[in-house]
Amino acid sequence: MKLSKKIKKIIKLKSKRKLVCLTAYSKPIAKILDKYCDIILVGDSVATAFYGMKSTKEIKLDTMIAHNKSVKKAIRKSTLVFDMPFNSYRNIKEAKKNIKKIFKKTSCDAVKLESNGKNFNILKKLVQSGIPVMGHIGYTPQYKGKFKPQGIKNNEQKKLINEALKIQKAGAFSIVLECINSDTAKKITNRINIPTIGIGSSNSCDGQILVFDDLIGLSGFYPKFVKKYINLQKIIENVLKKFRRDVISSRFPSKLHTY
Ligand code: KIV
Repeated sequence: MKLSKKIKKIIKLKSKRKLVCLTAYSKPIAKILDKYCDIILVGDSVATAFYGMKSTKEIKLDTMIAHNKSVKKAIRKSTLVFDMPFNSYRNIKEAKKNIKKIFKKTSCDAVKLESNGKNFNILKKLVQSGIPVMGHIGYTPQYKGKFKPQGIKNNEQKKLINEALKIQKAGAFSIVLECINSDTAKKITNRINIPTIGIGSSNSCDGQILVFDDLIGLSGFYPKFVKKYINLQKIIENVLKKFRRDVISSRFPSKLHTY
């Protein structure tokens, strides 16, 4: 398979420096992130973080396409990855049909598939047909129930290492490791040649990804693996208090804001 310059660069970075990755769901946010990120993922986390749905499984393909189109408008240098929603890649026919539509409508650089421990062949066939694919193992919300860190027990560790090796063999250009125990994440990162991108999986990974809304404190979701850089919710509340006070007291709009 002929890889694009962007994808080749992502693979090369494994041995050079850590990869910086974040999610984005809209053009204004992607415009800010583009300069600082190697990869921007339009994650299916848009379901819970943006739409307030109970599960990422609820988001539909056309909604994901709309968010990717918005994000793509701001991308200048980073690699845009489309997160395939639940039930959009159950077999190779369905995956190819949906990905054809995705690339036509969004011009993204790659797609991400969550591993269910069985869909390696679908991934392999997609790569063989020229589609750059990012894998995703560990806590994979589309296929796992209640949240639980992964790879702690010996047998779980072996299973995850094996899964990563199979995904590499199938031709993926990188793998997201979600909430995987640090020892297991380190072993996977050392065993494979493609970059591992961790979320809650320690600094042994080749790169890090977070949901942007979590990073800025807008989602109200603070699991252990999210560093609290800023509480944007509080900052917005302070602005709103001032706005409310100004409107009620007629201080806004002043002459300055009036025609
Ligand atoms: O949907 C998403 O945001 C993701 C990241 C957590 C990797 O898959």
